[in-house]
Amino acid sequence: MPKPISLSNRGRNAPASPIRSLAALARTAVDAGVDVHFMNIGQPDIPTPRGMIEAYQAYDEQVLAYAPSDGYIEYRQGLAGYYNDLLDSNPVSPDDIVVTVGGSEALLFAMAAVTDPGDSILVCEPYYTNYAGYANMLGLGVDAVTTTPGNSYRIDPADIEAGITATTRAIVIPSPGNPTGVVLDEAQLDAIIDICTRHGIFYISDEVYREFVYDAPAGTRAPSVLSRPGSEECAIVIDSVSKRYSACGARVGCLVTRNQDARRAALHFGQARLSPASVDQHAGLAALQTPRSYFDEVVEEYTRRRNMLVDGLASIGIEVERPRGAFYLAVALPVEDATAFSEWMVSEFTLENETLCVAPLEGFYHTPGLGRNEIRMAYVLEQEKLGRCIGILGAALEAWNQKH
Ligand SMILES: Cc1ncc(COP(=O)(O)O)c(C=O)c1O
Repeated sequence: MPKPISLSNRGRNAPASPIRSLAALARTAVDAGVDVHFMNIGQPDIPTPRGMIEAYQAYDEQVLAYAPSDGYIEYRQGLAGYYNDLLDSNPVSPDDIVVTVGGSEALLFAMAAVTDPGDSILVCEPYYTNYAGYANMLGLGVDAVTTTPGNSYRIDPADIEAGITATTRAIVIPSPGNPTGVVLDEAQLDAIIDICTRHGIFYISDEVYREFVYDAPAGTRAPSVLSRPGSEECAIVIDSVSKRYSACGARVGCLVTRNQDARRAALHFGQARLSPASVDQHAGLAALQTPRSYFDEVVEEYTRRRNMLVDGLASIGIEVERPRGAFYLAVALPVEDATAFSEWMVSEFTLENETLCVAPLEGFYHTPGLGRNEIRMAYVLEQEKLGRCIGILGAALEAWNQKH
């Protein structure tokens, strides 16, 4: 008699990414010949720095060998130089860094290093939902502090402290933020470090959008927790080449921490998966030579896109604050159910044979029922396309609200 076979609870409960939830509907629309504008995922269209592409082209080894589990020393030295450029004192050493398979693996390693099953991570919702995916993999709960569109999704450290529970082991916050674009200032970083220190919990600071800061002098980067005194024990920084160099396919990231116990744990996790990609680290090393002017131009371009999107939304009656960082806009729509609206828009609505794919924001909240009328728009398309996206959204909202 065969025995029934079943998945683990973890396998059964693994949440699907809300960022990709409309992908199948969008694919059907594309197959039907509709021109779909994808604003649902943070896949930038900005060209990758030439030096990085050339490093791939020049790669000419006889054997594609494993790299050391914590990454090539040359790359870690290069990364330490990059971080030390952000810091006035207390330099980062290559031995504070573990190279990972994207920022994603750095998040998994960091969370795994500081939690046990039954513990929880604290997030500020709406939040980058893959944090919930890792929490599920690791048997963790999620504690959520709610930020609201009415308050421009501002993060108040006092709310974070009030949100800590008996099981909280780490606070996980991206700055600049996905999906809200909120950038934490130094006082907020210090307040969170202070909370972590008093409560004996870790601060996993996801800084993959560090360069994308707007309305600031050229070259401004979001403050890093690494630069803040008192962060040595509690801080683990998550980083990645994906967004910085418009190189999401390179799959190189890293984890940086001066806490040597946390670093050792991450190294041991790294040994279990053997090696991060070797070729991509060479490209990552070349990327570190990217001139400042590249980022100045990219930031100018994203600023123009953000402004165009915010102004365009205002022109169709939707007021949104200009977020200061990253390349996402969380938008409260004049509809009751933004998920149903977004699904309908991408599968049934067209304007001159074009439609729009966005990410419903409900799935970015931990608390059920929140974010029902919100979406996230990634401004990763050129301005001319963004203008068309606004036109499609405006027309779709009109048609939807006539039906409902
Ligand atoms: C906030 C945040 N952290 C981490 C990541 C992970 O990116 P990657 O694994 O490509 O480095 C992303 C990707 O979208 C992100 O938005």
